[in-house]
Amino acid sequence: MASISLFEASIVFFSFLIFYLFLIKKPFDYILIKKTFQSYPWNWPVLGMFPGLLVRLNRIYDGVEVLENYNMTLPFKGPWFTGMDILVTVDPANIHHIMTSSYSNYIKGPNFQEVFEIFGNGLLNSDSERCNNLRKCYQAMLHDQRFQTFSIFATRSKLKDELLPLFDHFADEGTVVDFQDVFRRFTFDTSIITIGASDPKSLSVQMANDEFVNALEDVEVAIIYRHMMPRFLWKLQKKMGLGQEKKLIEADAVFDRLCGKYVTDKRDEIRHHSNNGDFVDLLTFFIKFGLLEPIDDKLLRDVIVGFILAARDTIASTLTWFFWLLSENPNVLTKIHQELQENLPRSRNSQERSPYDLAELDKLVYLHGALCESMRLYPPVPFQRRSAIKPDVLPSGHKVDANSTIMIFVYAMGKMRAVWGEDALEFKPERWVSATGGIRHEPSHKFFSFNAGPRACLGKNMAMTQLKTVVVEILQNYDIEVVKGQKIEPFSGLILHMKHGLRVTFSKR
Ligand code: HEM
Repeated sequence: MASISLFEASIVFFSFLIFYLFLIKKPFDYILIKKTFQSYPWNWPVLGMFPGLLVRLNRIYDGVEVLENYNMTLPFKGPWFTGMDILVTVDPANIHHIMTSSYSNYIKGPNFQEVFEIFGNGLLNSDSERCNNLRKCYQAMLHDQRFQTFSIFATRSKLKDELLPLFDHFADEGTVVDFQDVFRRFTFDTSIITIGASDPKSLSVQMANDEFVNALEDVEVAIIYRHMMPRFLWKLQKKMGLGQEKKLIEADAVFDRLCGKYVTDKRDEIRHHSNNGDFVDLLTFFIKFGLLEPIDDKLLRDVIVGFILAARDTIASTLTWFFWLLSENPNVLTKIHQELQENLPRSRNSQERSPYDLAELDKLVYLHGALCESMRLYPPVPFQRRSAIKPDVLPSGHKVDANSTIMIFVYAMGKMRAVWGEDALEFKPERWVSATGGIRHEPSHKFFSFNAGPRACLGKNMAMTQLKTVVVEILQNYDIEVVKGQKIEPFSGLILHMKHGLRVTFSKR
C-alpha cells in the first residue's frame, strides 16, 4: 500500500514538473540549482538523474565534464517506470563495437522509428532490408556521373549567380548579416534543386521565409523534446495536439503537401521526356533508375525529407561554425590564404575565372584539416542513438540489456582529452596533416562526425567537395568580420546550429 502511494505521489510530482517546464513555462529560460549537477548528476529516488538533465537542457549534448568523470561512459538513470534509462558513451572502443564489429546487434529500432516517425520509411529511419535497399539506391545515385555533375552545377551556379552577388551587395551597403541564415538558405535552395524541384529562391535580398524551412526547424526542436520527455507524455500531447506535438503535426502536413507536388511535377516531366539527359536529379534517379520497385509517392516523400535533412543543415552548420572558428583563429585563416595562393592562384583582373577542376580542391590539405577540425569540435549531427537487440557487454565493461538505448554524444566526444589529447579544445588543423604533408586519417569511430561502419554517411565526399567549393570562393573574394560581443552557443536540436546565429560584415578583397 505504502509503495503504491509513493508511486502515485512520484507520478503526480513528475507530471507536474514536466507540465510546468514544457507546457506552462517557456523552455530553455530557467536556471535551477545548476552548479550542483555540473559534474556528477545525482541519482535521486524516483526522479533518477532527470533533474540533472533538466538543468542542462540548453546544452544537452555537452557532457564533457560528466563523461570525463565517468571514464567516457555514463549509465544515465531516468525517472522510475518511464523507460528513460540510457547508456551514454563517447568511448571510441565502444563506438567501434556498436557501429562496426557488433553492428547487427545495434539497430535504430522501433523506439527510434517512433520518435522519428515524421521521416517515415526513409533511410534515416530504416533498419535491415529496407535500409540495405535504400543505401544501395543512394550509393548508385551518388556514384552516377550525371547526378554528380548536376549537384556540382547546382552548387556552383547558386554560388556564382546568387550568393556572391548577394555578398557584394552586403559589402557595398555595409550590412550586418546573419551568416548562418544565409548558409541555411543557400543549402536549402541547392538541396531542393538537387532533388529536381524548382528553385525556391529563398536566397534573395528580401530573405523571405519558406514554409518547408519553417517546418524543418519545428521538427528538429520537437524531436529533441521527444527524447527528453517520457513516452506517455509526448504521446498524450500528440493525442491532444498540444505544444511541440502540434507543430509536428503541422510540419508533417507541410511535408506531405510540398513533397506531393514535387513528385507529381517530376512524374509529369518524366512522362513528357522534358528533362535534360546529361543531368540527373534525385527524383528522376529514384523514379527512373532506382533499385526500388515499386517506388510509391509516399516513399518518395520520405526520401525527399530525409535528403534535405542530410544535405542541407549539415553543410550550413559546418560553414557557420567554420567561419566563426576562423575569426577566433586568425593564424589558421592566414595559412589557408597561403595555401589558396599557392595552389589556386587567381588573377586580380580576371573576375570571369573559369571554375576549378574539382581535382584541384584535393591539393588543399590544410583547408581539409581545418574543416575536419571544425566538425570535430562542432559536429553537425551532435548525437547518435542505437538500440540493442540482444544483451551484450561493451569493451568498457558496461552491460547492455536487450532493447535498451545507447546514445553517443558526438559533440562531447570531439572535446574529450582522453580521445584527442590535452589540446582537445584547441582548433588545430595541423592535427590532420601527416608528417609527409598529406591528409592524416583518423578512424571513423574516433572522428565520428560522419558516423562509422555500415551506416556511415553516404554523402561525405559530396559534402567535402561542396564545403571546399563554397569556402574557397568566399575566402578568395571577401574578408569577413564577425561582429564583436555576440553570444555564441550551440542550440540543442537534431543539428548543431548556433543558437543566436552569427552576425558578420563583408568587405571585398
Ligand atoms: C558536413 C556534412 C555532413 C555530415 C557531417 C553528415 C553526417 C552524417 C551522419 C552523422 C549520418 C548518420 C545519421 C544517422 O544514422 O542517424 C549521416 C547519414 C547520411 N548522410 Fe550525411 N552528412 C553530411 C552531408 C551529407 C550530404 C551532403 C549528403 C548527400 C547526399 C548526405 C547523405 C547521407 C545519407 C544518405 C545518410 C544516411 C545513411 C544511413 O542511414 O545509412 N550527408 N550523415
